[in-house]
Amino acid sequence: MFRRTHRNEPEFQPMNAFANEALADAKPAFPIPAGVYAETVTEVRHYTDRLFRFRMTRPEGFRFRSGEFVMIGLPNAEKPVYRAYSIASPSWDEELEFFSIKVPDGPLTEHLQKIQPGDTVLMRKKATGTLVADALLPGKRLYLFSTGTGIAPFASVARDPDIYEKFETVVITHTCRQLDELTYGRELVDTILADELMGEFAAGKLHLHSTATREGPDKGERITTLIETGKLFADLGLPPFDPETDRAMICGSMEMLKDTAAMMERFGLVEGSNSNPGTYVVERAFVD
Ligand SMILES: Cc1cc2nc3c(=O)[nH]c(=O)nc-3n(C[C@H](O)[C@H](O)[C@H](O)COP(=O)(O)OP(=O)(O)OC[C@H]3O[C@@H](n4cnc5c(N)ncnc54)[C@H](O)[C@@H]3O)c2cc1C
Ligand SMILES: NC(=O)c1ccc[n+]([C@@H]2O[C@H](COP(=O)([O-])OP(=O)(O)OC[C@H]3O[C@@H](n4cnc5c(N)ncnc54)[C@H](OP(=O)(O)O)[C@@H]3O)[C@@H](O)[C@H]2O)c1
Repeated sequence: MFRRTHRNEPEFQPMNAFANEALADAKPAFPIPAGVYAETVTEVRHYTDRLFRFRMTRPEGFRFRSGEFVMIGLPNAEKPVYRAYSIASPSWDEELEFFSIKVPDGPLTEHLQKIQPGDTVLMRKKATGTLVADALLPGKRLYLFSTGTGIAPFASVARDPDIYEKFETVVITHTCRQLDELTYGRELVDTILADELMGEFAAGKLHLHSTATREGPDKGERITTLIETGKLFADLGLPPFDPETDRAMICGSMEMLKDTAAMMERFGLVEGSNSNPGTYVVERAFVD
């Protein structure tokens, strides 16, 4: 089985003394609730003042399909707050990776953003979700449309060799407000293509189209606009959408999902689920 971790990824940020102090509430001061995993943080990297990723140990026997999400929390209360998180690492990885927002005063992330290697993160035992290859009918090209932290499940899917056996072309689109929010996706794809094992599967098949809507050369152009005008396909050198051969997974805000799904329907794609596979699938990146 394909199983290893990515030690060749960029260095994570050093801890600072202030964060160390502020972190007291992320340490296991309360007993670990029954029926959840308690895992150890192995890496933390901050990208912007709103975004960070972390990696943690993977429980023995924990199984999930690439693209699924789990509920995570911190052992900082009698009844911890749990939130849904897409697992950003692929199903073969020995560790689990998450890509997270930092919401000011957010019940979970105001604390989660302070975690450091060695801290404990709680995880409920069941992974679930619709952004999985099983929910899609066979096709040639797979579009993974994401905005903001919606790229997280696709970081998992795009690192799974199975996806390159199922599709000739895999395109990740990542749209954020600001240019610095695109770093995670860019480094992800660079790392996949440079990796000795994953690179072999993904070479010539994996493409990234990342754009910012509030600054830079693509300002004002949402992914829906880029699809509508055909600029996305022209940029990638790919033909326009074809419902016979093209499949899509969509992950972003409610509004983004609504608009992008409506566009897929206009192209003739049909929404799928685990029990009834279709030609596109959707999942919320956050609740709003
Ligand atoms: C299926 C699913 C998968 C998810 N996967 C991820 C993930 O991989 N990474 C991640 O960071 N979050 C993810 N979320 C959102 C996550 O569950 C939490 O909402 C988030 O961690 C903030 O938690 P909080 O308790 O600090 O604030 P909350 O009370 O949960 O949120 C407060 C407000 O912050 C905003 N917000 C919350 N999450 C986000 C976000 N991700 N991006 C932009 N704005 C946001 C919304 O306006 C929300 O109303 C997912 C949500 C769902 C439903
Ligand atoms: N990103 C930030 O810098 C920032 C800072 C402070 C607070 N916040 C708050 O955090 C929350 C989430 O912000 P976020 O930036 O992570 O997510 P977001 O508002 O969903 O924006 C992420 C990307 O999705 C695009 N988008 C939004 N709606 C869309 C739609 N219907 N169809 C297609 N594309 C769409 C946005 O384009 P547009 O730019 O055109 O909207 C942006 O490029 C918001 O409530 C926001 O007010 C964000």
